[in-house]
Amino acid sequence: DKVLPHEATVSAPVNIAVIKYWGKRDAGLILPTNSSLSVTLSQDHLCTRTTVCAAAEFGGDRLWLNGVEEDVTASARLCNVISTARKLRAAVEQADSAAPRLSTWGLHVCSENNFPTAAGLASSASGYAALVSALGTLFKLPQSAAELSRVARVGSGSACRSILGGFVAWQAGVEGDGSDSLAEQVAARAHWPQLQALVLVVSDRKKTVSSTAGMQTTVATSPLFAERVRNVVPRRMAVMRAAIAARDFAAFATLTMQDSNQFHAVCQDTFPPIAYMNDTSHAITNLVHAFNTAVGRVAAAYTYDAGPNAVIFALHDDMRTLVQLLTRCFPRPDSMPAAAFYEDPFAVFAS
Ligand code: PMV
Repeated sequence: DKVLPHEATVSAPVNIAVIKYWGKRDAGLILPTNSSLSVTLSQDHLCTRTTVCAAAEFGGDRLWLNGVEEDVTASARLCNVISTARKLRAAVEQADSAAPRLSTWGLHVCSENNFPTAAGLASSASGYAALVSALGTLFKLPQSAAELSRVARVGSGSACRSILGGFVAWQAGVEGDGSDSLAEQVAARAHWPQLQALVLVVSDRKKTVSSTAGMQTTVATSPLFAERVRNVVPRRMAVMRAAIAARDFAAFATLTMQDSNQFHAVCQDTFPPIAYMNDTSHAITNLVHAFNTAVGRVAAAYTYDAGPNAVIFALHDDMRTLVQLLTRCFPRPDSMPAAAFYEDPFAVFAS
């Protein structure tokens, strides 16, 4: 048993924040300035599948991303995640002298996205969540999902929320060591099965300002950001939790749109300003508002992360109409695969 390589494969999906994380109070430990809340999408469309293998004869750690080898030592965050997981494994070995010394062996990591990595979708969230979950399985770590989310957070902040399914809150925490900055499930996916998300791929170009660089400039220069952190987000976290608990779509959707708008307003208020949305994003926003006005209720919501791609939320019955409307207004270019389409419970739609 001691000489055989040990292996584990785990998949993790992307998540879409409805109360946005933007800003770090500690860049090294990735501690956020505010709490955030997200919906973890289904694994069918946007997920990362990661295999980790430990063997005594591996000289060192190696990583392949979508079949291409990357330099592990080039990424401090990746090294941090692996060494944190190794420390937790060492504790397992200390408690059980018969456990193979995996914490001292080399690791080979093989990670693949089931969507184009360059599509501007949240690949770091699913990527680090899959890696940490796979290491947790391989190392037989006793830690709960919430505890493992702390490890994923060190790789990429938003990744901590992808460790859990359904509706997930990432508590900013107050401790300097990050011990209370972790993700917890607010409600399971099954709590609200009628809620659906549609991903609209507006551009597959890489973003011009990374979230790390963007956040840093925002924290340093935006007065609107300071107001958001102090007075807006704490109240919104509570209202959003209540909307989810009550399955109140109008409240959920209104707050989702408002929080996306404020996040992008904060980016505009950053100096120099950051523009993640483009003309197509704004046209989608206008269409959603026109749709809500036409049906006389809040039937759809949009949200945008650090890029122009839109995620639309709607209840099942309205999503059919919305997909028809969106397909007519934003026809799919020939270059996009027809397979990327609307399907239950969550969909990817290319425009
Ligand atoms: O975890 P990062 O560094 O990729 O930051 C993600 C930030 C947003 O996607 C814009 C918002 C969020 O809460 O996911």
